Amino acid sequence: MQIKEVAKRLNTTPRTIRFYEEKGLISPVKATENDYRSFTEHDVMRLSTILALREIGVPVKDIRKILENPDMSMLQYLNVQRSALFEKWIEMKDMIETIDNMLETDDGNIYALSQHLKAMKSIRKGWNDKWNFDHQAADYDQNIKMHGYRFNVHQDYERALAKAAKTVQLKHGGSCLDIGIGTGNLGSRFLQHGVHVIGVDQSEEMLKKCSEKYPEIETRKGHFLALPLLDNQVDGVVTSYALHHIPDEEKLLALAEMDRVMKDNGQLCIIDLMFLNKQHREQVINAFHLTENSEAIGAIEDEFYADRSKLLDWFQMNNYCVETYQFNNILSMVYAVKDKENKIDSE
Ligand SMILES: C[S@@+](CC[C@H](N)C(=O)[O-])C[C@H]1O[C@@H](n2cnc3c(N)ncnc32)[C@H](O)[C@@H]1O
Repeated sequence: MQIKEVAKRLNTTPRTIRFYEEKGLISPVKATENDYRSFTEHDVMRLSTILALREIGVPVKDIRKILENPDMSMLQYLNVQRSALFEKWIEMKDMIETIDNMLETDDGNIYALSQHLKAMKSIRKGWNDKWNFDHQAADYDQNIKMHGYRFNVHQDYERALAKAAKTVQLKHGGSCLDIGIGTGNLGSRFLQHGVHVIGVDQSEEMLKKCSEKYPEIETRKGHFLALPLLDNQVDGVVTSYALHHIPDEEKLLALAEMDRVMKDNGQLCIIDLMFLNKQHREQVINAFHLTENSEAIGAIEDEFYADRSKLLDWFQMNNYCVETYQFNNILSMVYAVKDKENKIDSE
């Protein structure tokens, strides 16, 4: 097939095709007598992939990596690209919102608004995985069954996940997002009810494990502060043992992200390590000090156990109806339904 024919078939120009040839992404055979290029079906397929990836914003240098790396599937690349685009999109939304606020501000102090935007950008980009969850993925399901020497962070794990799955009532055909899904232990419980489950995690190895165990779960790379979903997309959002990996100031931004992707009347359920409030945290830590339980204190201080009262304040401000349940001194469930008359029930 000659270049003009290929260009017509792929709705592009010969010039564009020559560009990718110059970049070394395709190498059609050239006739010795007249230098005319001849494209095989394989060349055309490769070119169509290149054009498709360019159309969704993948830079040429990354396309080269994709085409040359046999270990990573196209699906994985698309997943990574989608998550990068969502991050950009959310950043753009923050910027547009700031411009709106700048236009509305009475005192003309647009500098303060720009600094707020700067802080948001740095928070959204600042998180990094200091626990190396990719490394933990292979043994995660075994490790959660182990008891620590003097502190069992997974005490009541099964009971809590079962309670979340029972509490969040989703219809057949509904959708549920599990954030920080890990190996799929919570999200998978909704599959039996015919719910479409989307699992988001920042760890690709965790997502791989989850897909091996539950191929029906749709996995997406992403993180709490830039969820790779459009607005008002899911009926339910659940998350277990994940939120305590982000600092307190980020948790409220994470709640706003969950709220963004959830439909009206959607249900949100958080199972996590948290204290009821500041006093409760002090009381529990003091008790560990008294018994010289440095294992417990070290574990708590290594992570960001929430202050449940602050989460509840956020839900109240955002018109959620909330129920809470405490499993033990460090583990709670917060179940919240969007846009219902606001009330806080406890235990
Ligand atoms: C302790 S595991 C919990 C896994 C699972 N939800 C469960 O209950 O067994 C924490 C998971 O949260 C994920 N995670 C931690 N911080 C995250 C973040 N900021 N965004 C997305 N996922 C995160 C980790 O990669 C890991 O898979």
